[in-house]
Amino acid sequence: MGNVLRGKNIIVGICGGIAAYKTPQLVRLLKKNGANVRVAVTDGGARFVSELALATVSGERVYRSIFPPVDTTGTDYTRHISLGEWADAFVIAPATANTLAKLSAGLCDDMLTALFIALRPGKPVLIFPAMDGQMFLSPSVQRNIAILTAQGCSIISPESGELASGLSGLGRMPEPESIVSSLEETLHSSPESSPLHGKSIVVTAGPTREKIDGVRFISNYSSGKMGFAIARAAAKRGALVTLVTGPVHLETPPGVTRLDVESAMEMHNASQSFFKGCTIFVGAAAVSDYRPAAPYEGKMKKDDQEIELTLIKNPDILAEFGMQKAPGQLAVGFALETQTGLDNARKKLNTKNLDLIAFNFFDRKTSGFEVDTNILTLIDKDGVTTELPQLPKDSAAERLLDAIEKLYVKAGY
Ligand code: CTP
Repeated sequence: MGNVLRGKNIIVGICGGIAAYKTPQLVRLLKKNGANVRVAVTDGGARFVSELALATVSGERVYRSIFPPVDTTGTDYTRHISLGEWADAFVIAPATANTLAKLSAGLCDDMLTALFIALRPGKPVLIFPAMDGQMFLSPSVQRNIAILTAQGCSIISPESGELASGLSGLGRMPEPESIVSSLEETLHSSPESSPLHGKSIVVTAGPTREKIDGVRFISNYSSGKMGFAIARAAAKRGALVTLVTGPVHLETPPGVTRLDVESAMEMHNASQSFFKGCTIFVGAAAVSDYRPAAPYEGKMKKDDQEIELTLIKNPDILAEFGMQKAPGQLAVGFALETQTGLDNARKKLNTKNLDLIAFNFFDRKTSGFEVDTNILTLIDKDGVTTELPQLPKDSAAERLLDAIEKLYVKAGY
């Protein structure tokens, strides 16, 4: 990777979490790698780590308040602007729930939050939330993370381990070495350097609705979040993304072309038109396998009789793509299972002629439809199996795309 940090200007933002005690080490490592480092600490952060220690290791004064002292010779009264211009990247570690909320809302009542807004467009922001696992997974924190992710920030999921509360689980800030590696990777990989840059990727997402009559349908619990996260992550890597989605309540990710469909047949017809031209087809939709044979026109009226509904099979969109893909094209699917289904996932990988499948256990709490996190096991066509931890869907999507990139490069395309 070379020494990508040499000469780079990095702002380290530190919030009030116990992991702040590790930040002098982080600053030291960045300096050792040749970066110029300036530190912005919140009031809470300054209670966990000494500003004197941070000033000593960075060799610079530490910023806390947005308001500079007056009447000091040479004072830069708009230093949040000059620092925002100076920075090549902004690392916030640890990031607390409070600061995530402020950042997502655009509040800026201290130097750290003001710098976030003053940073020049396109400069990477890496945010390392660290807090109790339940706090991290709370709807409020996940909503703020989703907003920041949609703005282009990289949110690096906390690690699992022992926590300050005595509990153990998700919530720990990664070690300084790992934070430095993430920053190096980000600075190294601009969208232009991704193998997916300029490639056409089609993603199916969400549920389908199969009409029983004019007012009723068969569907499933899919929220579309995973497919949208994949589309967002692929667009961030410079891919030309088309998202074919069933009915969902989600915003279109920036830079993504969206096609709204309702039934499996509509999804099939819309997807099929991209089969020849796309490089990668990702089936993340929960496509209904069957549809009513003869939907009733208008509203069916009840009477005293039981009714029988005849269902006929829908086409398997992903399998069709898998069967007709040409060299240079990759097929990626999901296998949603309610029983321990790794073997089922492998079977689907083979029968649908896929290059990669993400096995997705469905429990409606940690993984599967509607929830904000997922636990995926990736299996590629060579049998390589990678178990991912419980991750927010955006992070899981990034890891899936890393695996797709690897396969694509390995195949020599
Ligand atoms: N899929 C598809 N078209 C279908 C059914 C499934 O494109 N008609 C895709 C899904 O998007 C997913 C993969 O195939 O990527 C597997 O879907 P899943 O529902 O797990 O499995 P099925 O093949 O439908 O088998 P089963 O329902 O028996 O588990």
